[in-house]
Amino acid sequence: MENFTDNALRILQERYLWRKGNGEELESPEEMLRRVAKYVAQAELKWSGKAEAEKWESFFFDMMSTLVFLPNSPTLMNAGLPKSQLSACFVLPVKDNLSGIFDTLKLAALVHQKGGGTGFNFSRLRPAGDPLGSQGGHASGPVSFIKLYDFATEQVKQGGKRRGANMGILNVDHPDILEFIRLKVNGKALQNFNLSVGIFDRFMEAVAEGRDWQLIHPNSRKVAQTLPAKEVWEAILEGAWENGNPGMVFLDTIHAANPLSKIGRIWATNPCGEVPMLDYESCNLGSVNLSRFVSNGKVDYQKLKETVRTGIRFLDNVIEVNHYPTIKIEKATLSNRKIGLGVMGWAEMLLRLQIPYDTEEAVHLGDQVMSFICRVSQEASHELALERGCFPNWEVSAFNPQKVMRNATVNSIAPTGTISILADTSSSIEPLFALAFQRKKVLNSGSLTTEVHPLFKKAVEEGGFPVQEILAEVRASGRCGHIADLPYQLRSVFKTALEIQPEWHLKHQLIFQKHTDNAVSKTVNLPETASPKDIGRIYCEAWKNKAKGITVFRNNSGNEQVIYQGIGK
Ligand code: CDP
Repeated sequence: MENFTDNALRILQERYLWRKGNGEELESPEEMLRRVAKYVAQAELKWSGKAEAEKWESFFFDMMSTLVFLPNSPTLMNAGLPKSQLSACFVLPVKDNLSGIFDTLKLAALVHQKGGGTGFNFSRLRPAGDPLGSQGGHASGPVSFIKLYDFATEQVKQGGKRRGANMGILNVDHPDILEFIRLKVNGKALQNFNLSVGIFDRFMEAVAEGRDWQLIHPNSRKVAQTLPAKEVWEAILEGAWENGNPGMVFLDTIHAANPLSKIGRIWATNPCGEVPMLDYESCNLGSVNLSRFVSNGKVDYQKLKETVRTGIRFLDNVIEVNHYPTIKIEKATLSNRKIGLGVMGWAEMLLRLQIPYDTEEAVHLGDQVMSFICRVSQEASHELALERGCFPNWEVSAFNPQKVMRNATVNSIAPTGTISILADTSSSIEPLFALAFQRKKVLNSGSLTTEVHPLFKKAVEEGGFPVQEILAEVRASGRCGHIADLPYQLRSVFKTALEIQPEWHLKHQLIFQKHTDNAVSKTVNLPETASPKDIGRIYCEAWKNKAKGITVFRNNSGNEQVIYQGIGK
């Protein structure tokens, strides 16, 4: 059993560990992991005996307690609770009538209460001001219902444990698109929503060719307004420049990759974008900690293979022992059995191999590592299908007839916002945010301080540099790029998010996307001086290179900074 860091322990104590008996005593972190392993391994009993279940329980425990794999937060928090809800990701439909809107709102509240996040596409709603027919009056439109959903999310939070998370999407041809795009400009609105415009390829083409664009009424399909495509495009870029919203979701790219296009079109993703899903589907995630797979200066592919295989089995088991908020969600989820195995600690893996993030060598390694994970994940799901049967919609899926599969999708790159802190590594495929930093608002009990990165400390000590001076400087500023005493190679390897050009952020997103059947959640960090045009170039590149979505964040933009480079600010 690895020791958790102080930061991890604080998070676990405040949010994850169960209270026992008298309500005061907490389970230990080890007991938490044993609880999760035991609960998830119970699924094995459907197909085999107790000995087999115990064998997997011990594999699951080993993989979590050595911090090489962790499941998404709801699995850690809820496994073993009565009616435990273990998934992080849901997509719910929003219909164009009042009872549909409120039915979905109620369902979203139930999902949030158990720690899940929800994504919605609001494009079926008639635009604001539209006549309401027999009862008279005028429609409020998607934007006011998004505000309503946000308000409700704020009240429920996620089981009181963390801020609720939603993805709100409006298609680029909806008559209210400009209002939607400007929703987060100038203010603190919608703290519980990420916003993305649902983009069609023909819109990107219209922008490139300087053509007009038609906004279409979602019910009558009549043209509501014609305007230059550039006007919509520029509004999107201004919003993204001002506060990171909206991002883009590339609906045609998602559609082309949907193995279940015969069942329906995908219109939305979960809150951070890594899982595009059909209405009522949910997905559970888990992440392999790549920083633990370097030995003797090389990637340990054998260990990676074993962990990925066990991780896929773990996530498939989660579907089996999970409880779903409603029958509709249960049915949609069990029909396709989507799971999302991803990675965290990518930047730390590169550090350990002494490969700077902003090099072709790093991107090439990303290609190799993720294609390996993809191949092993597919094989593992295939073998589970032979053992346990295919997902029920397999016959109408793109896998028929070539390959039986247990899961319609297997990989997603999640942000790993909390579990990477628990595993004491860099999040997802992001570069290091800083070499020392503070996070606010993660915990009620104050900010989280992450001291100077131990690998940096080691490099400075071993290099014979003036340790005290350099560490004090790095502690204060969070970076080392400006310290002329340090050699170029060392400064390159320890570059942080804002010292890395946006193009390299995007290259990593694209190379991981190439081998990820779901999607990649990534923020492309931009310097404060970046212009809307720079953002436009990144959005275009992302679309051309088959990203499923794209999000940027310009330094010091937006209204709520929660993470600060350096300590003591
Ligand atoms: O690290 P952790 O498992 O807590 O979550 P993550 O990888 O940062 O986020 C994965 C997914 O969990 C998100 O895309 C959301 O669907 C969901 N989530 C949420 O519902 N509420 C949050 N506050 C954070 C994440």
